[in-house]
Amino acid sequence: MILITGANGRPGSATVREFVRHGTPVRALVRSPEKGDDLRALPGVEVVYGDMLWPETLEHALAGVDRVLMISGAGPEMLETQCTFIDAAIKAGVGHIVKFSGKDSVDGFDNEKFRSSRSHEQILRYLVASGMPWTVLRPSQFMHVYFEEVPDIVAHGELRLPLGDTTLAPVDIDDIAKVAYAVLTTPGHEGETYTMTGPEALTMTDAARHISDAIGRSVSYRDVTSEEKQQAWLAAGYPRPRASAFAQLFQERSRLGRSTVDLSTHERFGIEPTTFAEFARRYADVFRGVSPYTVTPA
Ligand SMILES: NC(=O)c1ccc[n+]([C@@H]2O[C@H](COP(=O)([O-])OP(=O)(O)OC[C@H]3O[C@@H](n4cnc5c(N)ncnc54)[C@H](OP(=O)(O)O)[C@@H]3O)[C@@H](O)[C@H]2O)c1
Repeated sequence: MILITGANGRPGSATVREFVRHGTPVRALVRSPEKGDDLRALPGVEVVYGDMLWPETLEHALAGVDRVLMISGAGPEMLETQCTFIDAAIKAGVGHIVKFSGKDSVDGFDNEKFRSSRSHEQILRYLVASGMPWTVLRPSQFMHVYFEEVPDIVAHGELRLPLGDTTLAPVDIDDIAKVAYAVLTTPGHEGETYTMTGPEALTMTDAARHISDAIGRSVSYRDVTSEEKQQAWLAAGYPRPRASAFAQLFQERSRLGRSTVDLSTHERFGIEPTTFAEFARRYADVFRGVSPYTVTPA
């Protein structure tokens, strides 16, 4: 049996959908019953409940599992969550963990300045030292994070970010899910790290133009200061630590300026990379603000 954790989050749910597309049964871990409703409706998906921080809640989820896609949120508790989960997986006899990590969006990114990158490195060291066979997926920024800008797009026709003319190479989580599916269902990926980006390094002016073309309404990029954006995140209800972590991330991105494109993983697995323009067209109604993003889109 294959288990996907973080199954109601963005990359986790996309991977569950990829299993459904192939008709391959899969087990999906969610933290609480009310979060599993959308996934429970999918054929071949066994939804189980448990908290990765609490091994005693994972007994059923890990029973009979050969391989796991390990994902949890990028917050301050990620290190403890995933190390605790690794211990529980070893105890339960799991044979292979595919760790979902992140590619620094720009070469030269300072891990000491960004906790989530640092935690990913520490977790990987823990996983390798544990002796558990492992594989790492390292995607760049998800295209889906631009949904967080929908309120400004709808209210002001603007994409407001503190990025100047920095380029980013966001990747579609459905592309990542295809790689995750292949790695989880075929042999021979132990000890491999699969880095992924999208097919273009885009300025935010480019991203705004693609969204504008997709929704048929003018959307322009407006450069804001890091302080302005942090205030906007706080006003939108982000907890202060999350707003500060995002501000740090964007400062690092704009300090470095340029992202590189790496399509080696797409090529290795025969996946056509999704462009941002295609992504924006697929989710035009989400960018218009008329349809919410759901983990099980029609
Ligand atoms: N965002 C990006 O652009 C990006 C790019 C590259 C890599 N990444 C990496 O991708 C990973 C996922 O990030 P994300 O922001 O996309 O997260 P996300 O969509 O919020 O998904 C995280 C999932 O993990 C679950 N989770 C967290 N703690 C858990 C626990 N203790 N027990 C069980 N489930 C738990 C969450 O469940 P709940 O719904 O219950 O909270 C949620 O389903 C992170 O490691 C991040 O560093 C992100």
